Amino acid sequence: MTLKKIIFATNNAHKLDEVRHFLNQQYEILSLKEMGFDQDIDEPYFTLHENASVKSQTIYNHFGLDCFADDTGLEVEALNGEPGVFSARYAGPGCTFRDNVVKLLNEMKGKANRNARFRTVISLIVNGQEYHFEGQVDGHIAHETAGNEGFGYDPVFIPNGYSKSFAQMPLDEKNQISHRARAVAKLVEFLKQTK
Ligand code: IMP
Repeated sequence: MTLKKIIFATNNAHKLDEVRHFLNQQYEILSLKEMGFDQDIDEPYFTLHENASVKSQTIYNHFGLDCFADDTGLEVEALNGEPGVFSARYAGPGCTFRDNVVKLLNEMKGKANRNARFRTVISLIVNGQEYHFEGQVDGHIAHETAGNEGFGYDPVFIPNGYSKSFAQMPLDEKNQISHRARAVAKLVEFLKQTK
């Protein structure tokens, strides 16, 4: 059986691994690099929905092929939902994952309420129509980093019901409960019913 092709508008190897894990029976998932697309796509909006849309629409307009994009934010209650849509560049332009984690731990010093959630929005364009899927996972921000798996804020995010961070979990375990996994599960259900 030949697999259908779909573009995932990302070059983040971690995200590709996570999503391929769910879809590799039905779809060949192509990254932007594999499509030879090397332009930066601006994410100028203040919502995850709009930023996911601008990425999928840019790729759809360029290639005319089915594609999807995701946008994720870490929303921390005691910081009024920050870093939220600015999660990637929280510590400033050109910052690393580590810079962001250091800034977050500094901002959280002395805060008793450490509740947080990851939220992912996926924008899918299939047969020229756009659809959105959302997933979230609730948890809290640890006092210090732990673990080497994953990426981004994983070393300081402890999901509810666990006593270890996302970065202390093998990918399979994170994939059972993560924000992106939950959004992708909805995407997969939808794609299964789409020709
Ligand atoms: P993006 O715009 O969807 O790439 O996500 C924005 C930022 O959120 C990323 O640069 C990461 O810092 C963070 N992020 C996204 N997904 C995850 C995750 O699964 N774990 C930890 N951090 C994440």
